[in-house]
Amino acid sequence: MSASAARPDTSTTAWIVTGPTSGIGHRTALELAQRGIVVLVGRSPDKLDAVQQEIAARGGRAVPVMADLSDITSARRAATLITELDLPIGGVLNNAGIMPLRAFTTAQGWDGAFATNHLGPFAFTEALIPSLPDRANIVFVCSAAEDPDRKIAVQAGFRGSRYISAEASARGEWLPGGSTHAGFDAYATSKQGNLATVFALAREHPRLRFRAVEPGVTPGSNLTREMSAPMRAFSRMVSPFAPLIPHYSTPKRAARLITQVLTDPAEATGTYCDENGRPMRASTQVSEPDYSDRYVAETRALLATTPAATR
Ligand SMILES: NC(=O)c1ccc[n+]([C@@H]2O[C@H](COP(=O)([O-])OP(=O)(O)OC[C@H]3O[C@@H](n4cnc5c(N)ncnc54)[C@H](OP(=O)(O)O)[C@@H]3O)[C@@H](O)[C@H]2O)c1
Repeated sequence: MSASAARPDTSTTAWIVTGPTSGIGHRTALELAQRGIVVLVGRSPDKLDAVQQEIAARGGRAVPVMADLSDITSARRAATLITELDLPIGGVLNNAGIMPLRAFTTAQGWDGAFATNHLGPFAFTEALIPSLPDRANIVFVCSAAEDPDRKIAVQAGFRGSRYISAEASARGEWLPGGSTHAGFDAYATSKQGNLATVFALAREHPRLRFRAVEPGVTPGSNLTREMSAPMRAFSRMVSPFAPLIPHYSTPKRAARLITQVLTDPAEATGTYCDENGRPMRASTQVSEPDYSDRYVAETRALLATTPAATR
């Protein structure tokens, strides 16, 4: 039997999307609603409600699940709630993310960007894995900011991942020589955590498909909400021309690509593609299996200090 023949009817398949209330995740939720039920995972009940209604108005079906991904207990509780929905899951999109300029800490006392972008999504994914059917696709929206050799990211002020250890990252400590914005080091390091997760979990779970997408610089989203007013105005100005600029994209275009990767029944796992769907080179560091395995092992050890979620 071919991989595609083994797939359930896509109209009843459930697609889980984190961060569906804005930017790339919002557009992707609308795309996915044409291919089945969308499980909307977000932190704001009002925003989730608005997206659910938007999907219903288009004749689709969505189920909201509350989760603050910066809070590990909340992330794990959301996974439990989703499992209890007992839906035929086709795939999971880990899209939610933040790019703060300044460092901040969560209620748990961990670096905010590291917790939101890496620790929460990692805990959420690991808690869901036992209930995912064979060949389910798990996609992470990654960022080339993790790569210190990525010119366009360096020009924007990033210095690549500054990973020392998961514990150090949770404390907001980064390798010296980083960005002038502490938040950028946290962002680049946490997004490298997403890639390490895709590469390491693809090796660990051959029954599932782990894939990474770099959506392209997408000025039409809200990711740069903390930037100065002139920078945000520039982003708005550039947004309509994004498809014409190398490495840039729009939320709609990124959503189409991500939907394609998330719903692709091919066997491909441990893959990473760019904004055009072409294979993308990760940093030398995270491409090394020993390194991505260490990143994941240290993440698990850190998360083991947080009690497992109950309802
Ligand atoms: N935009 C780019 O240029 C770019 C480039 C490369 C990669 N990416 C990646 O693309 C992904 C989507 O970003 P975007 O550009 O679409 O940004 P966005 O418009 O700001 O959307 C971010 C989404 O994440 C959600 N979120 C933030 N913190 C959360 C938390 N603690 N718990 C649960 N949900 C949370 C937001 O919810 P609220 O609506 O409640 O705030 C929102 O739905 C991110 O992973 C980002 O790193 C973006």
